[in-house]
Amino acid sequence: MPESEYLFDTGSESGRQHVTGLDLVLGRKTAEFLGTAGILPGQRCLELGAGSGSVANWMADRTGPDGTVVAVDLETDHLLERPGIEIYRHDINDGLPVPGPFDVIHARLVLVHLPRREEIFEMLVDALAPGGWLVLGEVVHFPQSISAPSTHDEAIFAKVWRIAAEIVGPAADQDYRWGHRVYRRMAAAELHELHAEEFSETAMGGDPHGEVLEALVRQAEPPLAAAGCTPDELARLQELLRDPLMRYWFFRLVYTRGRKPC
Ligand SMILES: C[S@@+](CC[C@H](N)C(=O)[O-])C[C@H]1O[C@@H](n2cnc3c(N)ncnc32)[C@H](O)[C@@H]1O
Repeated sequence: MPESEYLFDTGSESGRQHVTGLDLVLGRKTAEFLGTAGILPGQRCLELGAGSGSVANWMADRTGPDGTVVAVDLETDHLLERPGIEIYRHDINDGLPVPGPFDVIHARLVLVHLPRREEIFEMLVDALAPGGWLVLGEVVHFPQSISAPSTHDEAIFAKVWRIAAEIVGPAADQDYRWGHRVYRRMAAAELHELHAEEFSETAMGGDPHGEVLEALVRQAEPPLAAAGCTPDELARLQELLRDPLMRYWFFRLVYTRGRKPC
């Protein structure tokens, strides 16, 4: 198994736009869902696939001066050093960079990308402290057009996201069914207090959602082109993502949490 098969380059300018856009779009939902895990001063947390670092910062605001947040990513250029956060540039396929236990482990849009997600899931469960929470957010559905400036534009939007979901993502071992399996996996791992929520919202051209999609398409342009998207279609999609006449559903996510017995 190769060390990492991650399709995107978080360290690039498009990668930065991708992860900062995700924070703008998902920050509120994450704060609400993760907030229920009740992060406390002095706790030790793990933020896997830390991206821009915003969730690690949010956690560190709660763990305070006596706690620690371990922030792990393949690419850590966007993570700002601050007291209470330990940053590790690390491939999770090689195991945890530091041993557990952790009171809270959070990973948003990470395991969906990892071919060894089942094994890594087990490793995360093992790293939980008694009473510790595992909180995973995963993509389960791709963007879908609601209305577009023309039927031709509608067809371009549908084609690019269909090729991304059916060819490019699966070729990189992304698994969009995983998000719906997490609840059962947590139950089988004997985690308690299980709860899952699906989340999607509408967006229009010019919204921050489009920033995420633009950056994704830019990073995945070679495989999208190889799978049949023409340069004109990819260029038109980028225009549509800035056109207020383009209305669509953003990615759908499933967030799941479970707790190790005390
Ligand atoms: C889709 S982004 C999500 C970023 C962040 N969790 C968020 O939701 O905003 C996936 C993140 O996981 C990181 N990542 C991917 N494969 C990884 C691996 N094998 N080990 C560590 N981090 C990885 C990427 O660099 C990227 O920052």
